[in-house]
Formats: sequence, C-alpha cells, structure tokens
Amino acid sequence: MPDYELLSRVDHYIQDLFSANDQALQHALHNSRQHGLPPINVSANEGKLLYLLARLCGANRVLEIGTLGAYSTIWLARALPPPPDGRLLTLEYEPKHAEVARTNIAHAGLDDRIEVRVGAALDLLPHIEASMEGPFDLFFIDADKVNYPHYLHWCIRLARPGSLILSDNLIRGGRVLDPPPDDAAAQAIAHFNRLLATDPRLESLILPIMREEVDGLGISIVRKPQGDA
Ligand code: SAH
Ligand code: DHB
Ligand code: MG
Repeated sequence: MPDYELLSRVDHYIQDLFSANDQALQHALHNSRQHGLPPINVSANEGKLLYLLARLCGANRVLEIGTLGAYSTIWLARALPPPPDGRLLTLEYEPKHAEVARTNIAHAGLDDRIEVRVGAALDLLPHIEASMEGPFDLFFIDADKVNYPHYLHWCIRLARPGSLILSDNLIRGGRVLDPPPDDAAAQAIAHFNRLLATDPRLESLILPIMREEVDGLGISIVRKPQGDA
C-alpha cells in the first residue's frame, strides 16, 4: 500500500520550496470557498507544473475548459506575455463560478489577458472554431469528465502542430484501471486515456499527480504532419 502520509508530506515539502501560493492565489482559493465553490482546483504543485509547461512551450494563446474560481487559470496566465500577444480564453458552464472567477482574476491583475466565457463547452467550441479564434498553443481540459473525449476532438481541431494538450484527473484514485460499471466518469476517462495512447496525431504521457488520492495529468503534443519531422 502506498504511504499516503509520506507522499502528502513530500507534496507539501515541494510546495513550500517551489509552489507557494502568493497573495492573489490565496485570495482566489479563499474567495472561491466563501462563495461555496467546491474545492476541486488543481494543487499548488500542479499549478506550478502548468505554469512551467506553458513557459517551456512559449505559449501565447491558451484555451482552458473548466474555470471554477480561476485558480489554475491564474497559474497559466502568469506564464503568458502581456496582451495583445498573451491571451487566455477559459470556458465555464456555471454563471456563478464565472462571476467568482472574474473577481479573482481582476484581483490578480490579469483581467487584461483572460476572458471567461459562460456556457457548455461543447456549445462554445464550434463558435470558437467558426470565428477563427484558434489556433491555440496550449489547452487545459478540466471540466465534466464524461465529455473529455469530445473535448479532445475539439482541441485537436483548434491546435497547430506542436500545440500542447494538458488534461486533468486521468487516474482518479486508480479507478480508471478497472472502471466500475456505475462510474461514468471513470469509464469516460479510461476511454479518453486509450484515445491519448493511440491517436496517431498525438504523442502523450500521463504524469502521476499526488492529491488526497493518486491522480494524473495528461501531457500530449500535437504531431507535425507526416514528413515534416
Ligand atoms: N480548472 C479549475 C477547476 C475546474 S473544476 C482549477 O483547477 O482551478 C471543473 C469546472 O468545470 C467546474 O467549474 C464546472 O462548473 C465546469 N464545467 C462542468 N461542466 C462543464 C461544461 N459542460 N462546460 C464548461 N464547464 C463545465
Ligand atoms: C473533481 C473535478 C476535478 O477537475 C478535480 O480536479 C477533482 C475533482 C470532481 O468533479 O470531483
Ligand atoms: Mg481537475
């Protein structure tokens, strides 16, 4: 059995050294709790990882699916250059979450480069394509788990060769290994993981992430066209 207490202490050790929440991130978490949003944001260490990956790929344009209180949004947006080059579009179904997110983003001084758009992502994504808002350099998929396979389809449509697609919650405490028949989310994520592994347009890995239970972040790069390696 994994020693969760040790893993948790290690996670805090790394967070204290590298990923401490500054005032704006603390405010985002606190204000989100005050307004009754669920505590399902990424961890501080995963936020730092998102930030580093965005820096590593030199991202300018980011699309996030699932905003909540904009905790992950703030980490990602901090990796971007100032506008007009740096721009992050984040999609959120719940108007109340979007409202809290906008307050948190303004408090972090990032409202010049982030747009929170309200609606079901599967309704918004076709408009994003039709209005030529892509391509995006980096995607973060973190909304309703049953729609992850559809989100992957849209991210690939809105990507360019070399774009990065990051996907949260791909291990779910290990339930994806043998998904219970009554767990639609685990079923969908297990299917999604097979898509990541087999789609010839992607090169991918799942990085295990320590939370209260083990979870995972999908990291995928959209391939260059054949013969253009
Ligand atoms: N990325 C956030 C956490 C997102 S939690 C962070 O780490 O800080 C998932 C969010 O997706 C919730 O706010 C939920 O309301 C939203 N969501 C659920 N279904 C959705 C849909 N169909 N379209 C867009 N957002 C959705
Ligand atoms: C849940 C959703 C998330 O995106 C997450 O990171 C953790 C939990 C959830 O719906 O329970
Ligand atoms: Mg998540």
